[in-house]
Parts: sequence; C-alpha cells; structure tokens
Amino acid sequence: MTGETSERRRVLLAVCGGIAAYKACEVLRGLQKAGCDVRVTMTQDAGRFVGATTFEALSGAPVATSLYEYPGSAIPHIELAEWADVAVVVPATANVMAKMACGIADDCLTTTLLACACPVLVAPGMNVHMWQNPATQANANTLRERGVSFVGPDTGRLACGDVGEGKLAGVDEIVEAALALLVPHDLEGLRLLVNAGPTHEAIDPVRYIANRSTGKMGYAIAAAATRRGAEVTLVSGPTSLPTPAGVRRVDVESAAQMHDAMLVEFKDADVAICSAAVADYTPATPADHKLKKSREHLDAIELTETADILADLCGCKGKRVVVGFAAETDDLLVHAKEKLERKGADLIVANDVSRPESTFGADTNRVALVGAGGVEQLDTMPLADVANAILDAVLQRLSR
Ligand code: CTP
Repeated sequence: MTGETSERRRVLLAVCGGIAAYKACEVLRGLQKAGCDVRVTMTQDAGRFVGATTFEALSGAPVATSLYEYPGSAIPHIELAEWADVAVVVPATANVMAKMACGIADDCLTTTLLACACPVLVAPGMNVHMWQNPATQANANTLRERGVSFVGPDTGRLACGDVGEGKLAGVDEIVEAALALLVPHDLEGLRLLVNAGPTHEAIDPVRYIANRSTGKMGYAIAAAATRRGAEVTLVSGPTSLPTPAGVRRVDVESAAQMHDAMLVEFKDADVAICSAAVADYTPATPADHKLKKSREHLDAIELTETADILADLCGCKGKRVVVGFAAETDDLLVHAKEKLERKGADLIVANDVSRPESTFGADTNRVALVGAGGVEQLDTMPLADVANAILDAVLQRLSR
C-alpha cells in the first residue's frame, strides 16, 4: 500500500459470538502484520468465547463492547465507523447477518456496522443448516446486493460435528479479502505474469546449484497485484512460501523450465515482472546417478549458460511492459542502467543485496526504479509497499 493508499489501513474488526471467534485473534494479527491498524468491537456473546482483554492486548486499543462505556468517546459507534477504512465481521453469525440485513442496531457492534460508510467484509461461520436456511441465504443476498463483500464460508467439519458449508474461511483468505478492500482496483482487467525465487540446477540427482533468493519480493508483487484486481500467474522456483490468495502458481525448478513456462505464459499476459534469481549457468550434462566425492568428477562438471528469460520476453514484448530486477553489491545504478539497455526492458528494479534492509530474505527492500526517463530512488519500505510502487510504475508505463 503506497501513495494514495498508504493511509488506508484502518480496519474495524467486528467479532460476533460463534465458536470461531478465537480465529478473529489470528485475523487481527494477520492484518497487523500486513501493516494495518486494527480496532475491535464485539458482541456480548463474543465475550463468552474470547475475552475483550485479549483483543485489547492484541490491538493495543480499547475494545468497544458497549455504546455507553468506551474510553475517550461519548459516541463510540460513530467514532469507530468514521475511523474505519474497512469493517470486517469475523465470525459473522446468522443472527448478526440478519440484523445487518434489516438495519437492526441493538448493541455496540450492530450499531457501529449500521453507521459504517466504508466497505464491509463479512466472513460467516456457523452450522451448515443455519447457513443454508433460506432466511440466512436471503439475508446474505440482501447484503451482497447492497455491496457488502463476503469471504467464505468454506465446507468442512464444523464445531458441532456436522460436515458441510458454514466453516469460517481461512485466516489468510480473510486477511487478503480485507486488504483487497483497502486498495483501489486499478489493475482490473490486467493479466500479470511474475516469476520469483531461485532456480535449482541439477549436478546429479542429489546436488544442485542454487542461490540465496527466497522469492519474497516476487510473491509480494503477485499478492499486491491480485489485491488491486489483476489476474496473476506466478511462475515460481523452489520456495517455502505459501501461494498468495487468488494467484495462479506454476512451479518450476530449473532455469530451463522457468524459461519455457515464462514464454508459454507470456502469450496471455499484458505485463511481465521478472523478479526471479535465475541461474546464469547450469551443468551441461547432469549425472543420472549420484556422483561419488572425487576431484575428477568435480573438475568434469561443465557449465553452460542459461537462456536469458528477461531478454527473450523483451524480444517479443511488442507494446507490453516488461520489468527486470538487478540485485547488485556495488555500482548499483551503473549495472542497472546497463541491464535496462542490454535486455531491452521497460524498467529495472535495482536493489543492493549487501545492505541488511534489502538483502535476500528481508521483509523490507530499498530499491531504485531505473527507466529510460531516469532513476527514482525509493525509501526502505515493507515488501508490500515496494510491490505497490513497482505496480504504480508499471501502470504509468501502460497508460503512456
Ligand atoms: N534473468 C533472466 N534469465 C536469466 C538470468 C537473469 O531472466 N537467465 C533476469 C532476472 O530475473 C532479473 C535480471 O535478469 O530480472 C537480472 O539480470 P542479470 O544480468 O542476469 O543479473 P545477474 O545474474 O546478477 O547478472 P550479472 O552477474 O551480469 O550482473
């Protein structure tokens, strides 16, 4: 979240009285991890499952449980509703959904929701029969028609022992859906191809040549673009990262596999962002059996250059936008400008991997955006913000 979106991070978590209320704690944490400021309102029944003290400690702010007792405000429902950029109801019970659909405001949570003019996300969690009851379905439809967003419910084993639809959506899915409501959908209709992570170049069935890339930057770009409405395909080298919600992921191992996958996927893409740390060299003929330790075997490993994916995409890009990365330890801008020209990219994102804030595996990055028109040096920022800055630069180039 950057620029105009940077201030839109205030999430009102509305916790209702269902067994899945404990999951609201994890949702709160997930939102905070993504840079959001979270405040909580909860029903009296929610307090039977998780105490207000827990939410108070986690959010670092008073929890609104009553319309008449809220530290520092005489009218908490209006203050919270005006404060929030998005409201997330977790878990949404059949009762609260019914009240929302009818405009009933008989406690702090429902009164606050009624006063909310911001986007509202509902994450239902209840028994399968309660969810499938025509009354609940009608209420859900009424809310959808009024612009309320839904995430879940999923199908699975429910707290009551029944199996069916009604299970609260996954924590990551709820967090992603909330974040998507905080940003403009300015990439709607855009097909974005991203590659990320290292490649593994086989020496034999046991050993490979790799690098220190974790894939975090590319995954952050894929997640940010999905939130902003793009259709994203992520071609990923071996990483331990979970697939961001809504992203189509194609797994590859070697530079050659990544090259093939990228060229196939680029046919249906408007933009390609090559953040992967692709091996420049690969063993020419990997052994089909494990090599025994010997100087002879080591000396016999012949390396051959891999195909340059970025350069090949640039060679057939036409009017499409292609972005590359330059991970350097010295003369950052000189190398980045040289790569921009040599590969024919629209933009090179350059970072100094010898610095702690922009090294492999960091949760921040400090990059310079190097284009034909000049260099834009950005501050050290969380990866999600860097991702959005790169996407902003892509959008500018697309509209040119
Ligand atoms: N890249 C690629 N295919 C390769 C190698 C690199 O697409 N076989 C892409 C990377 O994804 C990145 C950019 O090219 O976007 C990095 O440029 P590159 O010149 O390969 O960087 P280095 O490997 O660091 O090379 P050098 O040692 O020349 O700086």
